[in-house]
Amino acid sequence: AIERTFSMIKPDATKRNLTGAIVARFEAAGLRVVASKRLWLSLRQAQAFYAVHAARPFYGELTEFMSSGPIVAQVLEGEGAILKNREVMGATNPANAAEGTIRKDFALSIGENSVHGSDAPETAAEEIAFFFSGLEIVG
Ligand code: CMP
Repeated sequence: AIERTFSMIKPDATKRNLTGAIVARFEAAGLRVVASKRLWLSLRQAQAFYAVHAARPFYGELTEFMSSGPIVAQVLEGEGAILKNREVMGATNPANAAEGTIRKDFALSIGENSVHGSDAPETAAEEIAFFFSGLEIVG
């Protein structure tokens, strides 16, 4: 089925001017950018987005990093978009990421791992709604 997923390019990647290279990987895999904006999240906004991880030991590090520079928030659309996006990203920890994936090629560490993508249909809907209104998504 045609799905939509939420994708975010993290500060380590925007800092290294990798936005276009990352988007090209998603497009080459058949995903379409149907919404996009570049933002610098406040610490409070990063904390709200990652609230599900609030009890984790890395929450402080994660939210400080995610508010340390610009991010690019996007909605990607396509056949099986949620799984396809995750395949193109590779494993969370670049040490475990497969050859040819974004994280294998670009990520610096498990925290500075260049991209975030929704893990399931419910989280995709929540994360898209966190960043975008219906009017900002143009399929
Ligand atoms: P992401 O897909 O954005 O979802 C939560 C993020 O937490 C994850 O990618 C990682 O970048 C980050 N993360 C997970 N484990 C750790 C860890 N042990 N230390 C720092 N960051 C982590």
